[in-house]
Amino acid sequence: MCLATSSMCRSMARIRLRFDDLEIEFVDRGRAIEQVYEFAEKGTRFPVVVFGPEGCGKTAWLLQAVEILKEMGYSVIYFNPLRRRFEAEVGIESIRHMILDRLKQVSTEYGFAKLIWLVIDIAIEVLKHGRKRLAVVVDDAFQYLSAKEAAAIVKGLLELIEHPEESYERIVAIAATSEGLSRYEIGRHLWAWIRPMWNMPREGFEELYEKVPGPKPSFDEVWRLTGGNPRTLSMLYRAMWGVDGVVEDITRSRGVTRDFVRRWMQYLADIVDDPDALMEKDVPEELKHALIEKNLIVYDLYSRNPELWVDEPPPEKDPELGIGKYIAWQTPLHREAVRRALAQS
Ligand SMILES: Nc1ncnc2c1ncn2[C@@H]1O[C@H](COP(=O)(O)OP(=O)(O)OP(=O)(O)O)[C@@H](O)[C@H]1O
Ligand SMILES: [Mg+2]
Repeated sequence: MCLATSSMCRSMARIRLRFDDLEIEFVDRGRAIEQVYEFAEKGTRFPVVVFGPEGCGKTAWLLQAVEILKEMGYSVIYFNPLRRRFEAEVGIESIRHMILDRLKQVSTEYGFAKLIWLVIDIAIEVLKHGRKRLAVVVDDAFQYLSAKEAAAIVKGLLELIEHPEESYERIVAIAATSEGLSRYEIGRHLWAWIRPMWNMPREGFEELYEKVPGPKPSFDEVWRLTGGNPRTLSMLYRAMWGVDGVVEDITRSRGVTRDFVRRWMQYLADIVDDPDALMEKDVPEELKHALIEKNLIVYDLYSRNPELWVDEPPPEKDPELGIGKYIAWQTPLHREAVRRALAQS
């Protein structure tokens, strides 16, 4: 446990992460790490709900956060149905058994995801056992839930913070999602600090790029293609830097079908040039909804006040990367998928 003052605790051990067939040490995200220390020092007054482009590094950051929180003396409950992980490092045998018993009863992914409701019960139980510092970290859980259910979970976490049955010293609650729509249901209530996280900043991303072995395109070129998105970098690495295959993968997985593109052609050409064009009055709500739902864009970007972001905010505007003032393509290759589909229609 780190007993020194915060500034002396920053030499944290960096976790190792899977990066395609490589294992790479967690790089950069200095500000986001600093934010975890701040959470640990004060607790979170509201659950922090983090959203951002797919593959921008939310899970990696949360995994590193779990290690920091443990170092800072927190009992940590970590839940991630996509990774099939439900862990409670709380040093209480009965709780470990409770979780193991429930895990044995689930066979499907969906069944696992529904265990999210158990997270709050376990948290209450942990406090009952006298633990004073508790962290609840929930990742990738919202895509299995309706937006209303996601909001209910966040409300449950808030209840834990505001009306605990037992006294505690600090609670840290963080949930992350790339589900563009659940943010709105949660955001309708004052139940959470909703904080976006963007792709990696250029310098940090270069550090990651340097760790990828073998012959590769120049960093400038990779930056232009990925906009700092580490998953896109790993996809390009896997494809031996063949852009066409990666664009095709995005086209298929994001549902950029010929029908979709033909239907909205008159608007999409402008949005490819400048994503803020989606804000124009005559753009139908249905198209906005579809682009958010397909995780092609991030809508309604916050002002670039760093206080409102996890890690560094994106630039005010970067037409080359498809970042507008209010709306951004998740990565340049998401935009490229639409651009190519338009050209073929
Ligand atoms: N700071 C980092 N250092 C090293 N590797 C990273 C970092 N951030 C992300 N990665 C790697 O990039 C890939 C994508 O990251 P990650 O899974 O964390 O993204 P995500 O935002 O959680 O994605 P999703 O939206 O699908 O949940 C992973 O292989 C991860 O290990
Ligand atoms: Mg994730």
